Amino acid sequence: MSQIVSQEESEYINECTSSSPSCKYSFRDAQDEDMGAIAEIFNEQVRTSPSLFTETEVSVESRINLLHERRAKNFPWIVAVATYESTGEESIAGYATYGEFRVAMGYRFTVEHSLYIHKAHRGKGLGKSMLSQLLQIATERGIHVMLAAIGSDNLLSIDLHSKHGFVEVGRMPQTGFKWGQWQTVVFLQKMLS
Ligand SMILES: CC(C)(COP(=O)(O)OP(=O)(O)OC[C@H]1O[C@@H](n2cnc3c(N)ncnc32)[C@H](O)[C@@H]1OP(=O)(O)O)[C@@H](O)C(=O)NCCC(=O)NCCS
Repeated sequence: MSQIVSQEESEYINECTSSSPSCKYSFRDAQDEDMGAIAEIFNEQVRTSPSLFTETEVSVESRINLLHERRAKNFPWIVAVATYESTGEESIAGYATYGEFRVAMGYRFTVEHSLYIHKAHRGKGLGKSMLSQLLQIATERGIHVMLAAIGSDNLLSIDLHSKHGFVEVGRMPQTGFKWGQWQTVVFLQKMLS
């Protein structure tokens, strides 16, 4: 799987939909081999977004370890794959996963999720689709509450979650710090059962 959008690939991205013959999105469970692309999608946000409260890039190995930990706990990790019909090439267009909110046993019916779409594939409906899929999986697996912790600058993501039934339950000023500035985190919660 390539992690960087090549010149040829970028020409197809505008045509990429879930049903286009030339470039098609599909979804499946993440594999170890996807973690290079996934680390790069995350690290692009580390480098460019004030809403992700870390300045430290992650390694591929750390993502593989996290995938294995989540699998062992029956937590999902799904990826969107863009397939280019002319070349048969595939690339990872985005991912969605969740993990524990807090480790104490009493929190076992609550999860906090992550949703990241590659910058070249944003605005094409993948975020909406992957959030819906994650909500369905969580519901089927007996999760009671799904939580999103979103940097207050990330209005697009707050809006996306609100449209999927998430409700703001907390706004915590100056709990984050990035690039020399305090950051506010917004918690949004959706009851699944
Ligand atoms: C937030 C994010 C997941 C949204 O995914 P996406 O695939 O780009 O979003 P979608 O194409 O599904 O669109 C979702 C909504 O946002 C709107 N939208 C998307 N891109 C937009 C843009 N650039 N400007 C304005 N609105 C936009 C869409 O019109 C859609 O609104 P609708 O429900 O009224 O139709 C994606 O932008 C992303 O990965 N951002 C960086 C990481 C991040 O912020 N993750 C979320 C942290 S919890």
